[in-house]
Amino acid sequence: MAIQKVGVVGCGLMGSGIAQVSAAAGFPTVVREVSEPLLEKGLGSIRKFLEGGVAKGKVTEAAMKTTLDNLSGTTKIEDLAGCDLVVEAVSENIDLKRELFGALDKACKAETLFASNTSSLSITEMSTFTKRPDRFLGLHFFNPVPLMKLVEVVRTIRTSDASIAAAAEWCGKIGKTVVSTGDSTGFVVNRLLVPYMLDAVRVFEQGLASRDDIDNAMKLGCGYPMGPLLLGDYVGLDTTYYIAQIMFDEFKEPRFAPPPLLKRMVLAGLHGRKTGRGLYDWSTNPPS
Ligand code: 3HC
Repeated sequence: MAIQKVGVVGCGLMGSGIAQVSAAAGFPTVVREVSEPLLEKGLGSIRKFLEGGVAKGKVTEAAMKTTLDNLSGTTKIEDLAGCDLVVEAVSENIDLKRELFGALDKACKAETLFASNTSSLSITEMSTFTKRPDRFLGLHFFNPVPLMKLVEVVRTIRTSDASIAAAAEWCGKIGKTVVSTGDSTGFVVNRLLVPYMLDAVRVFEQGLASRDDIDNAMKLGCGYPMGPLLLGDYVGLDTTYYIAQIMFDEFKEPRFAPPPLLKRMVLAGLHGRKTGRGLYDWSTNPPS
C-alpha cells in the first residue's frame, strides 16, 4: 500500500519535525495536538525553522510554501481518519498511548498503518492496543528531525512485511535513510547512545574533568558533532533520565542506571535547552 496522506499525533519537538519533513516531501500531512495553544506553538516552531532555513539560504521560499501548504493542524482525532500512515509522537506515557491508539484504531480506516516514534517503550505492547498488530511498527526519528538523516524502522513479531516495506518507502521519500531493528528497548541508537551520555554525566559528577573538557574531548577527540553533556541538554535531561529509567528497568544493567546528578537536575527543573538551563545556560547563543 503506497502512503499518500500522513497523520502525526503530537506537535512537540519530535512531532513537529516529523510533520515538517513529511509535508516538505509533498505528503498532505495533518498534525494533531490536544489543544489549540499547543498546536499553534508546534506549528509556530515549524514556521520558525523554515524561516531560519530561508534566511540561511538552505530552504527556498517555494519549498517553504509547499511545506506549509501541505500541512494542516487539528485537535480532533477523527481528522486523521483518511490517513494512510499515522505517526505517534506524544509523551512517553504508556497509558496515554493506550488511550490514543485505542481511539485511532476506531477512527482510522482498516488499512491505515500505525507507527510510534517512541524511543524506549515497547512497540509490541503498543500494538496490542489496536486490532491491527500486523500494521503496527516503530518509526524512530532523531532530533533535530529535519537535519538528522536516520529513521530506525522497528518490526515486532507481528508486523507484516508489507507494512515494513510501505513505511520504509515513505521514509525514503521524505529523505531519510532507514535501518531495520527488532523491538528491544532503545533499539540500536539509544542502546548505544544512552549509556555513553550517562557515563559522561558520571565522569562530570566524579570530577574527572570539567564540563567543557568532557565535551571537547569527545568532539575533538572523536569527531562527534557535539559533546555528550551538550547533547544531553539538547535532547532534554528529563527525556534522557526517563529513557534511562525505562532501559534500566528492562535490562537491569548498571550502565543504564541514571546517575544521581542527572536525577537531581531533573528534579530541580534544569532540563536543558527546553527550560533555558541544564548543564549549560541556554539564554546565551551559543550556550555557555
Ligand atoms: N533549515 C534548513 N537547514 C538548516 C537549518 C534550517 N533552519 N538550520 C541549519 N540547517 C542546516 C545548516 O545549513 C547545515 O547544513 P550544511 O551542513 O549543508 O551547511 C546543517 O543544517 C547543520 O546546521 P548548523 O551548521 O547550523 O548547525 P551545526 O553544524 O552546529 O549542527 C546539529 C547542528 C545538526 C544539531 C549537530 O550539532 C548535530 O548533529 N548534533 C548531534 C545531534 C544528535 O546526536 N541527535 C540525536 C539525538 S538522540 C535522539 O534524538 C534520539 C531520542 O530518542 C533521544
